[in-house]
Amino acid sequence: MALRTILTTEHDEEALRKRSRPVTVFSGRTHQMLDDMIETLRESGGVGLAAPQVGILRRMVVIEREDGSILELLNPEIIATEGEQTGAEGCLSLPGIWGEVTRPMTVTVRAQDRNGETFTETASGLIGRCFVHECEHLDGILFTDRADHILTQEELDALDETAEGEEDAR
Ligand code: NI
Repeated sequence: MALRTILTTEHDEEALRKRSRPVTVFSGRTHQMLDDMIETLRESGGVGLAAPQVGILRRMVVIEREDGSILELLNPEIIATEGEQTGAEGCLSLPGIWGEVTRPMTVTVRAQDRNGETFTETASGLIGRCFVHECEHLDGILFTDRADHILTQEELDALDETAEGEEDAR
């Protein structure tokens, strides 16, 4: 496995704006790329990573669930959504930028695993939000395109204080 460099809009917005191609090979090199993406995601501390963020224009996403397990989505498609959530969202490719984004609360994706087997997975809250965010990366869409509002430094500071306050409360 190897760490990959995460592209940012500051350095390579053009690559992040491209539409990724379907995965057609479910072996060797694809497995290697997925393993690299997982290692890169774990190192980054983020929740999800899409292949174009590391310069691979293939429809692949890796997500780390709340319990630390990894979900691999190849050729993912959102097939159902329910409800709505509005909250702060960020992206490894836009470091330091946070926006208020409204997403569905519950999201069902249909995807293939690394061996080409089709499955469906449903998630709510943070992971549901992540499904939509990562799938949009595959079409060159960034969360800033969807944000109602980009948080100002004052709003970010206030968020940090709230998070610290919650920690103290526990
Ligand atoms: Ni992102």
